[in-house]
Amino acid sequence: MSEHFLVTGGNRLEGEVLVGGAKNSVLKLMAAALLAEGTTVVTNCPDILDVPLMADVLRGLGCEVELEDSEVRITTPAEPKYHADFDAVKQFRASVCVLGPLVARCRRAVVALPGGDAIGSRPLDMHQSGLRLLGARSEIEHGCVVAEADDLHGANIRLVFPSVGATENILMAAVLARGETVIDNAAREPEIVDLCNMLNEMGAKVSGGGSSTLTIQGVRKLEPTTHRVIGDRIVAATWGVAASMTRGDVRVRGVNHKHLGLVLDKLRTAGAEVTPEVDGFRVIQRERPKAVNFATLPYPGFPTDLQPMAIGLAAVAEGTSMITENVFESRFRFVEEMIRLGADARTDGHHAVIRGVPVLSSAPVWSSDIRAGAGLVLAGLVADGTTEVHDIFHIDRGYPRFVENLRGLGGVIERVGTE
Ligand code: UD1
Repeated sequence: MSEHFLVTGGNRLEGEVLVGGAKNSVLKLMAAALLAEGTTVVTNCPDILDVPLMADVLRGLGCEVELEDSEVRITTPAEPKYHADFDAVKQFRASVCVLGPLVARCRRAVVALPGGDAIGSRPLDMHQSGLRLLGARSEIEHGCVVAEADDLHGANIRLVFPSVGATENILMAAVLARGETVIDNAAREPEIVDLCNMLNEMGAKVSGGGSSTLTIQGVRKLEPTTHRVIGDRIVAATWGVAASMTRGDVRVRGVNHKHLGLVLDKLRTAGAEVTPEVDGFRVIQRERPKAVNFATLPYPGFPTDLQPMAIGLAAVAEGTSMITENVFESRFRFVEEMIRLGADARTDGHHAVIRGVPVLSSAPVWSSDIRAGAGLVLAGLVADGTTEVHDIFHIDRGYPRFVENLRGLGGVIERVGTE
């Protein structure tokens, strides 16, 4: 039985919403637990499907994993297994982040390739070339990425693009390599800083987190730690954009507003009053939002994960917006679904031009990934009538208590099953 959402538009979102730990951080922190024998505890874990899926990947590698409330306890054996098979990894791409820790710990890793993705091709060439520079051999064999190293040593690595996943895998391999590694053009996302902090708590010697140059002095051994995941800036911003689109008044808590500097500036350009707060921010939008141009870029640029929400905002804004996608080639595929909802949108390559309409028109639509799904729900909130959003398992992978949170803000949404 699959489920879908029924979203009825017209309500202004008002109230307060608490955001949990970041999906794009917690999965990597769980993988980092492989680096130390013993029990690592990760707190402030979000209640999303990817967390138990990652727990299964780690169990397949010989770890014991207990999930309770917002805490995950991972007990890593002295000798973890090094083979993450297809059944374990097929359901989500982030599982590839066990590659670096396994090479570091076992000197060997075989990780099945998770396959295609709706947002565009996601090669691992930078992950592999970084590991090769650290002294590993790495090939794609029989549907798996294989990496082996007799001796893992420090190296100077310059990434051709600041890939989040490649930075993380290379970093997690380098912490247990002999000597110094420098990663240039490293990703600067707050989730990378979170990972650097946790690794340092485990005894690693990583400096430069949050800058383009990471320097890692390899150590022989790491110890388990207890670490709290940072708040999810993408979920937080989703609620912020929803407030702006519905001309609402929403206070978002549980996130560092500094992680959303550019995003909050864009909401201001759209006419919202945005107030940073100690534990989050507040967005009040009184008039119809104004058109805003967006170009997605690696952090601190505008996040590609918020591009569908930006399109939703542009779809009902006054004026014409230009949106440029610079990170994932196929991320505009979902614009077809927005057009089904009455958006006046055209795409050409990695540009989209959107002329705002006062109100969208409800229709059945299909989510193709986590963020596209959330963007479609937001569009449903400003459409007349009731929009059916299908394939919502995507949304459940990234948004904890999505229906409860949206209802708490006055949104009209129902989860229903379909045979
Ligand atoms: C992570 C996030 C994802 C976010 C993305 C960009 C997780 C679980 N996912 O994905 O939500 O949208 O960062 O902020 O954290 N690339 C290559 N070769 C490589 C690696 C990447 O060509 O070896 C390309 C990709 O195809 C893509 C671009 O680099 O076009 C960015 O990818 P990357 O930053 O690696 O994203 P992910 O880590 O997969």
